[in-house]
Amino acid sequence: MPKKSGAAPADSTILRQFVARPREVGAVWRSSPALGIAMAEAVRWPETAAVVEAGAGDGAITEHLLAAKPSGTPFLAVELNRMCAHELARRLPDVRIVVDDLANLCSICASEKVGEVGAVVATLPWSVIPEDKQTSMLEAILETLGPDGQLLFYIYIQALPFWRRSPFAKLLHTSFRTIEHGSVVWKNVPPAVVFSCRGLRRAPNPTG
Ligand SMILES: C[S@@+](CC[C@H](N)C(=O)[O-])C[C@H]1O[C@@H](n2cnc3c(N)ncnc32)[C@H](O)[C@@H]1O
Repeated sequence: MPKKSGAAPADSTILRQFVARPREVGAVWRSSPALGIAMAEAVRWPETAAVVEAGAGDGAITEHLLAAKPSGTPFLAVELNRMCAHELARRLPDVRIVVDDLANLCSICASEKVGEVGAVVATLPWSVIPEDKQTSMLEAILETLGPDGQLLFYIYIQALPFWRRSPFAKLLHTSFRTIEHGSVVWKNVPPAVVFSCRGLRRAPNPTG
């Protein structure tokens, strides 16, 4: 007889939290390995500056980021949902996790003594988050990123046409010199496109 571990199967945490908080979780299924690998390949891994993953969920992307990460690069996962964070800690016990809102990224990084942040991998459901909340989270990212900082995220293909006209996309274009995207990752439900933003136009935070 297989032993019961008492923990939820990895796939059910996102689904159950989606039922409880659809606009916060924004996905029925965790991301696929194909999307995790595409995200990890898009990161320009810093040697010493930290990488922060926000909206880490139960760790579907996190495990691929950790596999690609240089050993010296500090890594922090930020997740708002306690149940997701609990499952993430169970699956990846060595990951430093903060249960908090991405909008508080500056204070999180200060209290965790993260130092310079080289990349933020924001695997949140951007297209279903209210616009004012999107803006406050993006402002927190912009304030936290170091001068050569990179922002990565994915958008589900059905949301792309609306998303391209959103205030979030406009703010990205005024904040970064380069916004690139990969091809559609079809092996994900739903298929998604990975975006990478670099070349901050804003003056770097003097304290960051
Ligand atoms: C679409 S799920 C993605 C989970 C995982 N990254 C993946 O790709 O499978 C979005 C995650 O973002 C988290 N989230 C939503 N709003 C957040 C916020 N303001 N700050 C931090 N995490 C947030 C949700 O709790 C959820 O775990």
